[in-house]
Amino acid sequence: MVWEVADGMKTKVRVQICVGTACHIMGAADLITIGDLIAEPLRDRVEIQGIACMDLCRDEAHGKPPFVIIDGQTLAEATLDKVLARVERRAEELIDEDTRDVGA
Ligand code: FES
Repeated sequence: MVWEVADGMKTKVRVQICVGTACHIMGAADLITIGDLIAEPLRDRVEIQGIACMDLCRDEAHGKPPFVIIDGQTLAEATLDKVLARVERRAEELIDEDTRDVGA
């Protein structure tokens, strides 16, 4: 799986949704459907994957499940609305960065 091209330009937002038991029970099953909710022009800029328990659920210091990692940043108590907002904002940033790079 390629996340960056040779010149270092990032091409997609990487969304990793924990599908371990604690996260699943707390709502991760709904989060997996986020791909259908992302606005059409941004959808191609997002890569979604389910991942196994990261053990974040074992320490309250990390917050509460479900956990989602968006481009390396962990989001606790993830909801569809929170994840969708962050993912779409990040995808728009990538498009803006690409536009700037092309115009440079
Ligand atoms: S089940 Fe998601 S971090 Fe453990």
